[in-house]
Amino acid sequence: MGRGLFSSASWLWLAAGQEFPTMETWSYEYPRQQYWKNIVDTHCASTYQSPIDIPKTLNYVDHANLTQLTEGVGERLGPFAWSLAAQTLNVTLHPGPLTWEVKLVNPESVVVQIGGLDYKLESMTFKSPSEHTVQGGHNAMEIQMRHVANTLFGGERKVLMVSVSLRMAENGGNAFLSPIWSAMPADGKGAPSTYIANPYLELAPPDKSFIRYTGTTTAPPCERAEWIVFMEPGYVGIPQLQQFRSSISGYQPSRLAPANGTLPLGISKAWDTRWGRNNRLAQDLGLREVQMVEMMNADPNAVPKLTVIAGMAGNSSWEQP
Ligand SMILES: *[C@@H]1O[C@H](CO)[C@@H](O)[C@H](O)[C@H]1NC(C)=O
Ligand SMILES: *[C@@H]1O[C@H](CO)[C@@H](O)[C@H](O)[C@H]1NC(C)=O
Ligand SMILES: *[C@@H]1O[C@H](CO)[C@@H](O)[C@H](O)[C@H]1NC(C)=O
Ligand SMILES: *[C@@H]1O[C@H](CO)[C@@H](O)[C@H](O)[C@H]1NC(C)=O
Repeated sequence: MGRGLFSSASWLWLAAGQEFPTMETWSYEYPRQQYWKNIVDTHCASTYQSPIDIPKTLNYVDHANLTQLTEGVGERLGPFAWSLAAQTLNVTLHPGPLTWEVKLVNPESVVVQIGGLDYKLESMTFKSPSEHTVQGGHNAMEIQMRHVANTLFGGERKVLMVSVSLRMAENGGNAFLSPIWSAMPADGKGAPSTYIANPYLELAPPDKSFIRYTGTTTAPPCERAEWIVFMEPGYVGIPQLQQFRSSISGYQPSRLAPANGTLPLGISKAWDTRWGRNNRLAQDLGLREVQMVEMMNADPNAVPKLTVIAGMAGNSSWEQP
């Protein structure tokens, strides 16, 4: 009798643990992502979350040419500008059960500008498969760069996220990722430092066309954030993808969406189904505007222009209304 009561009480406790996760216990497991809204002191319950599924037909498309700011100092495409003065960055590396994080030792090294504010690049994290999708289709990885405004805006330090998606490359790897991947501690401990290239020089795609919308960071605490998502995907080597996915899958208890035999929509058979996933599902776009700035002076002979980032649709051009 007493034993029965005890069991049902612990069942209730476990169920409540799933429905009321904390910053230390939340999980990417799909049915449980809906409970992020119950994590106290976060913004995960507010409207207009990220990521989103990017519709292929956009209502606001602006055209602009990429321009050099003063020689070697930076570039601009429409409303968005970024500094290139620092070519290499000293960073520290932080592996973990949810993602890897790369933190700039001197965040003021890379400054970007949009909407009249200057933001400094603080850190970058890695998601696999990509969190932003196009018509439901994913890429193999998404790199999200977190920038924070130098000045307070309405008493708040605004966050700007800039995203680059990567497809799987059959041959070779991504040279920008190499120093991070080779110095990331395999035992998940410590915070070694290394040098990486300025991501606006080596990671951002040649065609800088981007979409812009307002949402949140894609993991609790789901802070309000402006988003810039570059539309042309880059590449990640299959061994690089394996190293990242097996690393974040190596923690117990796992907080990832568990591995199963299903390929994420839009991803090729090279995807390894043994590892978990750290992507938040696309959130309701609601009444938000998704604006696109299309770069007109991209090299027409470079990687296909404005490929659907997911690479799933056969049609590679963007439709305008
Ligand atoms: C881009 O540059 C080309 C040639 O320099 C020019 O003809 C075109 O009008 C420019 N487009 C925009 C949107 O500024
Ligand atoms: C890079 O940053 C690390 C961590 O703060 C520091 O120990 C190291 O001295 C820095 N390297 C250089 C060359 O500044
Ligand atoms: C596999 O996992 C994904 C993500 O967790 C889920 O959407 C899908 O339904 C699962 N498939 C099966 C057969 O369980
Ligand atoms: C590409 O778009 C055209 C016109 O919308 C459509 O007829 C065609 O089936 C599409 N091709 C693919 C491979 O989706």
